[in-house]
Amino acid sequence: MSEKQVVVRLQDVRKSYFMMGGLTQLVLKGISFEVKSGEFVAIMGHSGSGKSTLMNILGCLDRPTAGQYWLDGQDVSQQSDDELARVRNKTLGFVFQNFNLLTKRTIVDNVALPLLYQGVGVAECKKRALEMLDSVKLHGYENYLPSQLSGGMQQRVAVARALINDPTLILADEPTGNLDTQTSNEIMDLFCELNRKGITIILVTHEPDIARYAKRLVRIADGLVEYDGDVKEDMEIK
Ligand SMILES: Nc1ncnc2c1ncn2[C@@H]1O[C@H](COP(=O)(O)OP(=O)(O)O)[C@@H](O)[C@H]1O
Ligand SMILES: [Mg+2]
Repeated sequence: MSEKQVVVRLQDVRKSYFMMGGLTQLVLKGISFEVKSGEFVAIMGHSGSGKSTLMNILGCLDRPTAGQYWLDGQDVSQQSDDELARVRNKTLGFVFQNFNLLTKRTIVDNVALPLLYQGVGVAECKKRALEMLDSVKLHGYENYLPSQLSGGMQQRVAVARALINDPTLILADEPTGNLDTQTSNEIMDLFCELNRKGITIILVTHEPDIARYAKRLVRIADGLVEYDGDVKEDMEIK
């Protein structure tokens, strides 16, 4: 069997923030791990442990202060803002806690937007967006506005938008944080279905019930990887 492709490789990644008064706060103190194609990883940790900071680095929205980050074989640790924007658009799909949909644009426009940014023609964008909406079971809702849909449906729109680039990696930061339990489970079932199709997913959550859907758990504490392994074997998840 051929070796699975390494999608993410973090090596001794550190991140500090400068604070008022000349102090620096060390948030990530040396994070190293790899994620291979087809994995489904949950990142957990207490509030303030650096999960979002790590996701921002993984998502090429921010750079590490030190250490290296290879995404899809490319060292992105020191790339310029323009280069990072290109990598984001080509390689990554994002799902956020607050859905982050454009409120004044229709559902189909929201989903098509990443493709439009890539310069794909309008008709092709719309066709692909409708296919994506179909795949998240939102056929018929294309001309609605986000506010006319339930939270769970809006998050499915966000998932469709994240998928439209055919990304190498989906990054989801607390994607069920604003949803009730049943809707959260539906969204997690959707992530599982995508993962079964081979899509690589890294998901941040502070809820053990959500992390359980993943195949692997990375727990961050005090800016370091405290646990990295099977979700079920982590003693704190019961
Ligand atoms: N842009 C920033 N500037 C300064 N400090 C920040 C910034 N972002 C996060 N922090 C600090 O870094 C720490 C980790 O934050 P964060 O990554 O958001 O944690 P989590 O997502 O695990 O709750 C917190 O103490 C937070 O105050
Ligand atoms: Mg956070």
